[in-house]
Amino acid sequence: MDKVSIGLLGFGTVGTGVVRLLSKDRERLEERTGTKIHLEKVLVRNKNRPRKVLIDNRKLTTDVHEILENPNIDIVIELMGGIENPYRYILRALRNKKNVITANKDLMASCGEELLIEARKNHCDLYYEASVAGGIPILRSLTDSLAADRIQKMIGIVNGTTNYILSKMSHEGLPYNKALASAQALGFAEADPTSDVEGLDAARKMVILSHLAYSIPVRLDDVKIMGITDITSEDIFYAQKLGYTIKLVGIAEVSNGDIDVRVEPTLLPDGHPLASVDNENNAIYVYGSALGETMFYGPGAGEGPTAVSVVSDLISVIRNMSLGVTGNHIFLPRKELHPRKDNLVESRFFVRLHVKDQPGTFSSITDLFKDQGISLERLYQEPVPGKEIAEIAIVTHVASKVLFEKTFEMLKKLEVVLEAKYLRVERG
Ligand code: NDP
Ligand code: HSE
Repeated sequence: MDKVSIGLLGFGTVGTGVVRLLSKDRERLEERTGTKIHLEKVLVRNKNRPRKVLIDNRKLTTDVHEILENPNIDIVIELMGGIENPYRYILRALRNKKNVITANKDLMASCGEELLIEARKNHCDLYYEASVAGGIPILRSLTDSLAADRIQKMIGIVNGTTNYILSKMSHEGLPYNKALASAQALGFAEADPTSDVEGLDAARKMVILSHLAYSIPVRLDDVKIMGITDITSEDIFYAQKLGYTIKLVGIAEVSNGDIDVRVEPTLLPDGHPLASVDNENNAIYVYGSALGETMFYGPGAGEGPTAVSVVSDLISVIRNMSLGVTGNHIFLPRKELHPRKDNLVESRFFVRLHVKDQPGTFSSITDLFKDQGISLERLYQEPVPGKEIAEIAIVTHVASKVLFEKTFEMLKKLEVVLEAKYLRVERG
């Protein structure tokens, strides 16, 4: 195959990175694939917007048909974001026998299965490495390098924006809003950062990871989601006092055929390898039956890292085209979904309490835990200056989630307790 032609949908942060790589590294990429790579058209909303990378303006179009219906274009790369338009465009591209690459986790988490079936039907490739953890090659690792192992659990820091915010709050004392604004300026955050900070973006990535690691068709509705908007500097401070770091993590765990997928701010022991994953970096910690524990770490967002994943997908597609095997690598979930029942979920828990600073307070709290059969691992108490209030931070031993939640409700009703909140704690 002498030449492939590409149509790019979107020329924002990631699209710019792709165009930059294709022009800067053209020779090396062509050497790797043995094929000339020609960027034919780029779809944008506004042709007059200044661009960060040099491009022949005649390549820009606002008419998607110039790409989807163009018989010269072999590969469509979707980097627009959103769901509705990309869904229609990718479907059309596949039906027109064009191979597709996307970085769109919103789309792949909601309609991925349908699009993959369509790709297979049309003998086309549909690659989406950049959709999870930007530059980290985690999807390929799950489907290829770790294909022989039985994966039991994955813990992922898969949202750069929230990891950046929590890192800045933890290490530099930056207020939440300033840290978020900085993540937006650096290009990690979604156009509407609500999906980042409320945990939806991470949940979508956990859906994609669960499909590939467990072959189970998890849907977004099956994921329990909690974001970081309620995490305060005090939570971070008291977690640190007890030897923990707060991170927004996604956890997908399978045992006895049941799956539990959740995204929530979680305390990680300071020595846990994920605790030192800072700023916009991402990491996925994988527990394999035979391999043991392994961690995939790197930049989870941003122009350059994400573009590397997209262009590496492009190289795979070109190789498949040369071999005449496009559509053969499509991976679809084969098992049924059995969500784990709440009464089977166990964890350690971190509890923060504002209490009346008076005799007997401490013992009424510890007595309640004792009566409910929940053992305490760590405790910290500090008076709040100028008030007759004390702050108590507790980490429990492993307890059933149902029992813990019942105990927590009783705790809130104690006469000495003024305020209470809890978070989950991951083991070291
Ligand atoms: P941007 O918002 O920076 O860019 C979007 C691009 O798409 C812009 O060029 C815009 O045109 C174009 N576009 C959007 N809607 C339309 C439309 N209806 N018609 C024509 N053009 C349109 O997005 P990103 O580059 O940040 O993200 C792209 C995708 O990659 C998303 O799915 C995102 O989730 C994913 N992703 C992003 C990462 C990141 O670090 N940013 C990391 C991993 C994945 P115009 O320029 O004219 O406005
Ligand atoms: N908004 C996403 C993040 C971009 O912060 O991780 C990468 O998917």
